[in-house]
Amino acid sequence: MRGRTDIVVGVQWGDEGKGRVVDVLAAKAGVVVRYQGGANAGHTVVADGEKYVFHLLPSGILYPDKLCVIGNGVVMDPEALFDELDALAARGKKTARLVVSHGAHIVMPYHKLLDKLSENARSGDTKIGTTGRGIGPCYSDKYGRIGIRAEDLVNADILRAKLSLTLALKNDMLTKIYGEKPFSFDEVYEKALAWGRRIEPLLGDSFLEIDEAAESGQNILFEGAQATLLDVDYGTYPFVTSSSPCAGGACTGAGIGPSRIDRVIGVVKAYCTRVGEGPFPTEERSETGEFLRRKGGEFGATTGRPRRCGWCDLVAVDYAVRVNGLDGIALTKLDVLDDLDEIKICTSYDINGKVQKHFPSSCAELSRAKPLYRTFKGWKRSIADCRRFEDLPEAARDYVRFIEDTSGVPVLLIGVGPGREQTILRGI
Ligand code: IMP
Repeated sequence: MRGRTDIVVGVQWGDEGKGRVVDVLAAKAGVVVRYQGGANAGHTVVADGEKYVFHLLPSGILYPDKLCVIGNGVVMDPEALFDELDALAARGKKTARLVVSHGAHIVMPYHKLLDKLSENARSGDTKIGTTGRGIGPCYSDKYGRIGIRAEDLVNADILRAKLSLTLALKNDMLTKIYGEKPFSFDEVYEKALAWGRRIEPLLGDSFLEIDEAAESGQNILFEGAQATLLDVDYGTYPFVTSSSPCAGGACTGAGIGPSRIDRVIGVVKAYCTRVGEGPFPTEERSETGEFLRRKGGEFGATTGRPRRCGWCDLVAVDYAVRVNGLDGIALTKLDVLDDLDEIKICTSYDINGKVQKHFPSSCAELSRAKPLYRTFKGWKRSIADCRRFEDLPEAARDYVRFIEDTSGVPVLLIGVGPGREQTILRGI
C-alpha cells in the first residue's frame, strides 16, 4: 500500500514551531521534504535536550534511517547547506541520507548582495524587512529564466555559459544602479564549481525518490517553510516572501500531484508573531507583547531580530484553513500562556465600522482591521508535564476547544514545551 502523505504548513507569519512538529511527525515518516524557501527559514528542534536550528536542511535530518529531500522549489545556498552539515558532523551526529533536486536554484553571492541593496534602497513603509539571504533575487532569476540550478554546478561548460549571461546583467545592475563594484566572473565561477564538487553526490531526481518511497509504503512528510500569510500569492503582499509556502506549493515544489496528498496539517502558535514589516492586526505593543516575546523566546532564529508579538487570530486561521484545505491543526507553545491572568483570541475584525469574519485579501484593508476579541481566563499553572489532553487544566482545554470549534478543524497535536517529548498527541 502507498505510504501516507502529509504536508505541514505554517498558518500565521512563520515561526509557529514547524520544525518541532515536523521532528515529531518525522518519527513515523520515511521521507522528509523541504519544498520551498531557502536559508531564510529557521526551524528549531530540541532532541535529547540539545537544541538545533536548521535553515535549509529538512527537520527530519536527525533521524539517520530517513531520507531527507531538498526539492526543486527550494532556493539553495550551498554555503549555508555545508555549514549545517559540518556543524552536525562536528557534534558527532549521524544524519539522514540527503538528496538535493537537480532543479533546485542556487543562491549566488550576487543574490545576497542585491537583496540587501534593494532593501536599503526602500524607505519608510515600503521596506519589507527581508532576511537578507538572497531569497527574492534568486526566485526573480528563476522565473526570469536566468537562474543557476544545482545541476549546472556539475557541468563546467553549461555553468560558464549561464553564468556569463547572468553575471553580466547583475554586474550592470550593481555598477550602474547601485554604484557598487562588479563581481569577478572567475571568482564566482570557481566558487560555484567547488560547490558542485561537494554537491554532486547529493544530486538526484527528488520527485522520483519521493514517489518510489511512497510506492514502497513509506510515509512522506512535506515541510513548509515560512507560512500562509507570507505566501507570495496569499500572504500580505508585498510584505511576503517570494515563494509558495501554502499547501499547493508542495505539489509544484516537490513534484507530487494534488491527488496524492492525504493530509494537510497547519501549525498555529497559541499566540501570534511576525518578523519584518507589514500589517498585523492583533499585535500587542504593550507589556503583554513584551511578556510573550520574553517567555516565548521570540527572537528570529535566522536574523536574531526581536519578533512582533500579539494574540492568536482566528480570522487568519480561518483563511489558512480555506487556502490550504487544512485537515488538522498542530497548536504550539501553549505553555507560553501559562502565567497570564487573561488570554485573548481574535474572532473577527472591525474594518471601517463593519464587522467581518473573513480575512481581507487586500493588504491595505487588513491594515485598517481592528481586532475583536473573545477573552479566556488564564489557567495560571505549568502545563509542561501534561502528556494527555485530559491532563491540561480546564481553562486550557476550553481555549483549545474554542480554536477547534471556530475553525472547524481538530487540534491533533499540542506543544507544551520545547522538548520532543513535551507533546500531546491526539490521533495524529
Ligand atoms: P525573505 O524571505 O528573506 O525575502 O523575507 C521576506 C519576509 O518574510 C520578511 O518579512 C521576513 O522577515 C519574512 N520571513 C522570511 N522567512 C521567514 C521565516 O522563516 N520566519 C518568519 N518570517 C520570515
